[in-house]
Amino acid sequence: PVVGVPLPHESAVQHVTGAALYTDDLVYRTKDVLHAYPVQVMKAHARITALRTEPALKVPGVVRVLTKEDVPGVNDAGMKHDEPLFPDEVMFHGHAVAWVLGETLEAARLGAAAVEVELEELPSLVTLEEAMAAGSYHGARPVMETGDIDAGFAESAHVFTGEFQFSGQEHFYLETHASLAQIDENGQVFIQSSTQHPSETQEIVAHVLGVPSHEVTVQCLRMGGGFGGKEMQPHGFAAIAALGAKLTGRPVRFRLNRTQDLTMSGKRHGFHAKWRIGFDAEGRIQALDATLVADGGWSLDLSEPVLARALCHIDNTYWIPNARVAGLIAKTNTVSNTAFRGFGGPQGMLVIEDILGRCAPKLGLDPTELRERNFYRPGQGQTTPYGQLVTQAERLTTVWQQVKDSAGIADRKREIAAFNAAHPHTKRALALTGIKFGISFNLTAFNQGGALVLIYKDGSVLINHGGTEMGQGLHTKMIQVAATTLGIPLHKVRLAPTRTDKVPNTSATAASSGADLNGGAIKNACEQLRERLLQVAATQLGANPSDVRIVDGVARALGSEKELAWDDLVRTAYFQRVQLSAAGFYRTEGLHWDAERFRGSPFKYFAYGAAATEVEVDGFTGAYRIRRVDIVHDVGDSLSPMIDIGQVEGAFVQGAGWLTLEDLRWDTGDGPNRGRLLTQAASTYKLPSFSEMPEEFNVTLLQNATEEGAVYGSKAVGEPPLMLAFSVREALRQAAAAFGPAGVSVELASPATPEAVYWAIQAARRGG
Ligand code: MTE
Ligand code: HPA
Repeated sequence: PVVGVPLPHESAVQHVTGAALYTDDLVYRTKDVLHAYPVQVMKAHARITALRTEPALKVPGVVRVLTKEDVPGVNDAGMKHDEPLFPDEVMFHGHAVAWVLGETLEAARLGAAAVEVELEELPSLVTLEEAMAAGSYHGARPVMETGDIDAGFAESAHVFTGEFQFSGQEHFYLETHASLAQIDENGQVFIQSSTQHPSETQEIVAHVLGVPSHEVTVQCLRMGGGFGGKEMQPHGFAAIAALGAKLTGRPVRFRLNRTQDLTMSGKRHGFHAKWRIGFDAEGRIQALDATLVADGGWSLDLSEPVLARALCHIDNTYWIPNARVAGLIAKTNTVSNTAFRGFGGPQGMLVIEDILGRCAPKLGLDPTELRERNFYRPGQGQTTPYGQLVTQAERLTTVWQQVKDSAGIADRKREIAAFNAAHPHTKRALALTGIKFGISFNLTAFNQGGALVLIYKDGSVLINHGGTEMGQGLHTKMIQVAATTLGIPLHKVRLAPTRTDKVPNTSATAASSGADLNGGAIKNACEQLRERLLQVAATQLGANPSDVRIVDGVARALGSEKELAWDDLVRTAYFQRVQLSAAGFYRTEGLHWDAERFRGSPFKYFAYGAAATEVEVDGFTGAYRIRRVDIVHDVGDSLSPMIDIGQVEGAFVQGAGWLTLEDLRWDTGDGPNRGRLLTQAASTYKLPSFSEMPEEFNVTLLQNATEEGAVYGSKAVGEPPLMLAFSVREALRQAAAAFGPAGVSVELASPATPEAVYWAIQAARRGG
């Protein structure tokens, strides 16, 4: 079988040689393309009183200016109908209010600069604090309740309260948002888009154009990274290109430059949390009362499901018998925050990890000990605060113990204590954290996948599925699944770009579910084909179909010497008029979710992992290094181990970036640039790079971890390991504490930049 074999990414060579094509590369293969350029208004909040396009039309090379009046269908780009594509009100600094089409990019740019916009400025809420003070909220206000918190607090030996506000994160995918729209002789639109959700891009484009979905086809060849940033945000952009193509009859492309992408597209939600927690005398959590406020930005986008996932992950790996957790979405005059790897899960989990990190010293407990005491216990029937039974809790214990052993925690803690005793100005610390992450979309309907598998007369196989490739290796895994199910070598299988006219009504490639859903669908299609071919083979081999196996491209019957090569088998089937194509379908069984009551079993299973991180911190500056990271992570039986290890490493580093380096800043003053994103480039927004990699980085996949009922026993991998980076933050907290008196509780800002760590050290020195 070829699942489980370590293979490089199916496009690895193209990626590293530059041969891989991305959406905007296709422009150079397309004739007569027009370039679209946004007219961005640089005010945080304002009403448009006049919009004059004539000056732009006088610019040589400008072909047309797209405005609200041009929209034949619905002037809206969102699934919540609160996102006018061409707004009357500027809702954030950099909001695009019109788009200019030009023969060249430069003509379009000059045209956009010539458009005249008159404004009446309105008061703006730029920060989460401002929105909370003004009571500016939108969307759902979920409350998750379990047990009886009053009783829980009454029985608590220790009660602590606190607040915590932490930053969002910029996706910083290498490829910015891009689309290329073309029109055929019947006016039907073909859009190539860098989108994680081609079906929804198709739906929004159809709404904007006022046409049925069958007139719009969306294709995604691959993305240069998505990370959730292309789950919902590409739709409006694609609609602009499609509208331009429809109105001019010419292909229209755009690709945002980095500054446009940073100032126009949404990010991970920053959150504010206020909490009260009760522990018994042994440090076991008795009750949690918390309110989480997500910074939604100007429109809802995916903020409601992000908030739901945050609430559903505030327990992380800990059993909380009595809880009441409320959620709110602040409406601010900033970009509309959106999906980002983990989708609220990291935010919810960060809150409880921060609480435990702060409370451990107050309880007089080692933080690792405090975490262990609160872990879900196997076989006790414990449920999450939203009512789902926690299955496989023994895997948590296993990955935790494996990390402790392989990282040599006990010895290293002693070495670190000796080092710290000898070094007044440099401190080291080693922290362990674990994760439990729910796999499936909370919204049950999204948990379906489709595929179309074609076998040609020569025995070659072409697979189509609804998932998109953003570098995560989904296509590699899907080729492995098809080859395994059909029993043929990998080179027989090729994969076609994701297209809405091959597989309809697909879900976003998100929630880490790409391989589960599409793999299930491909397996289903291949099984149908295999059944048909086994019948043909049985007749040829004079055997019973149930005795025939196809292995490595050869069909054999049990107990017989006869062989039939795959290509001959396929040709024979063709001449016998056996159908050689099949549509596959998969839906995750056993899920239910009541969004109103905020209860149910929304997840098919949980992914578990544990990480141990050692850091070294400089007491003069707060600068730090990650000396060593050890991870044991549960991906079930890996479909593709090299891909999965890459995913664990990449996710961990991305999580560490969020928690330690990446510092989004806006102009929050009252000057003319109020609301402007200050971190508009890589020069001011610090991403992890080679110099920030852990000096020693050991990633191990949990072995013998078959997941029953998932494709070839595998588990989703894309998002969960991001949250293993909590170990970095907790190690920094403990290192900062080591500068102060024993048992000091340290509050650490997030991101824990060197500056933030420096202030935490100063506070620790003062005794907390
Ligand atoms: N890996 C790479 N290289 N690039 C990406 O954009 N996105 C992540 C993760 N890994 C991403 C990635 C996110 S946010 C998700 S939800 C999953 O991949 C989606 O793909 P999957 O469901 O196939 O794992
Ligand atoms: N991640 C997790 N859950 C989700 C997502 C996602 O990207 N989208 C919708 N639910």
